[in-house]
Amino acid sequence: MTKRVAILISGGGSNMIKLVESMVGEHPARAVLVGSNDPQAGGLKKAAEMGIDTFAVDHRPFKGDREAFETELQAHLDAAKPDIVCLAGFMRVLTENFVRKWDGKMLNIHPSLLPKYKGLHTHQRALDAGDTEAGCSVHLVTAALDDGPILGQARVRVEPGDTADTLAARVLVQEHKLYPAVLERFAGGSTDPIILG
Ligand code: GAR
Repeated sequence: MTKRVAILISGGGSNMIKLVESMVGEHPARAVLVGSNDPQAGGLKKAAEMGIDTFAVDHRPFKGDREAFETELQAHLDAAKPDIVCLAGFMRVLTENFVRKWDGKMLNIHPSLLPKYKGLHTHQRALDAGDTEAGCSVHLVTAALDDGPILGQARVRVEPGDTADTLAARVLVQEHKLYPAVLERFAGGSTDPIILG
């Protein structure tokens, strides 16, 4: 049966767009919902233009009460009955309680070659470390930040003169290939990792 996919974003949503665009034809899944913690997130409008239901739960009024924020988030997700939740540039840390509800069903894309550089400023940290390669990872979400079984990785070479921005731009191109490829395989029932690049 076709899997239902919800996608959570915080910003422009370029990964979300690639995921939505990929779920056509013989693909085992369809996008049913796009949500954000930021009502102004540019990706929400783009998702609506693609005909996907959208919602926003602004995290700011919750003032750090993550459980209350997540209760709202969960209500929106439950109503759409997704089989899979994709975090795609979703910049809120989720509690263990929330993550547990989506155990084995929630994916995240992170802009580093995990387990390196969990958290923020991944590209600058790769440059500061003198790494010769960088990349991105898609993994199953577990309670620990940017942890969980890796479902796919894509590598890019660090070029002389790279800045965090130039490196991020090249990694993003790979993110747009990796995430749809991993989602298609995952929705089809496989957790075998995909390695690109
Ligand atoms: C992507 O590079 C994604 O890997 C990163 O945010 C960007 C979102 O871009 N995610 C994280 O840093 C998660 N910790 P997008 O909104 O254009 O997809």
